[in-house]
Amino acid sequence: MSRSRPLLLGASASAAVLAAAVLASSATARVRVQDEKPFVQAASPVAAGEYLMTVASCHDCHTAGWVEKKGMVTKEDQLTGNPVGYYGPWGTTYAKNLRQVTDRHSEDEWVEILRTADHDQGALPMPWHDASKFSDKDLRAMYQYAKSLGPKPVRLPRNTKPGVKPTGRYIDLTVRDSTAP
Ligand code: HEC
Repeated sequence: MSRSRPLLLGASASAAVLAAAVLASSATARVRVQDEKPFVQAASPVAAGEYLMTVASCHDCHTAGWVEKKGMVTKEDQLTGNPVGYYGPWGTTYAKNLRQVTDRHSEDEWVEILRTADHDQGALPMPWHDASKFSDKDLRAMYQYAKSLGPKPVRLPRNTKPGVKPTGRYIDLTVRDSTAP
C-alpha cells in the first residue's frame, strides 16, 4: 500500500505532465495553422504544381485550346500561352507563355511577380487578386511544374492599349447592360 501510493502519484503526475504536453503541442499546432497558409501536399512539388495549375484554372487561359478540348491537351503543348486575346477596358492582353516565363525568371522572381501583380504592371483578366493569395509553397510548386515542361517558344501577339481593337482572334470581355437605352 505504502509502495503503491507513490507509484500511483507518480503515474498521475506523469499523466498530468503528458496532458500538459498534449495541450501545449495542440496550442502550438493551432498557432502554426493560423500562421501558415494551407498548401497542397503531393508526391513532389512538380506533382503539386501540376494539380494546382489544373484546379486553379491556369490552363484555361495559359494553354491554348484547353477549354475547347476539355483539358485534353498533352504536356507537350501545355502552358505555352494563348494567341486568343482578352479584350476589355484594359486593352487586349494575351495569357503569357509560362514555360518561357519560368525559363527567364528564377523561382523567387516568379513568387514576386505573382505576389505583386507583376509589380503593379499586370493587367486583367489575369486573376492577380486571387493569385497573390497562394501560399509560398503552392506558388513555388506551380513554378516547378511549368519549369519541368521545359522552354517552348511560341509567338504570341503583343498586348494592345485600351481602346485599340485587336487584330486576330479575341474574346470580348466588355460589360454590357441590356437595360441601358
Ligand atoms: C482568365 C485568364 C487567366 C487565368 C485564369 C490565369 N491567367 Fe495568368 N495571365 C493572364 C493574362 C491575360 C496575362 C497577361 C497580363 C498582362 O499582360 O499584363 C497573364 C499573366 C500571367 C503571368 C505574368 C507573366 C509575365 O511575366 O508577363 C503569370 C506568372 C501568370 N499569368 C500565371 C498564372 C497562374 C499561375 C495562373 C493560375 C493560378 C494564371 N496565370 C491564371 C490570364 C490568365
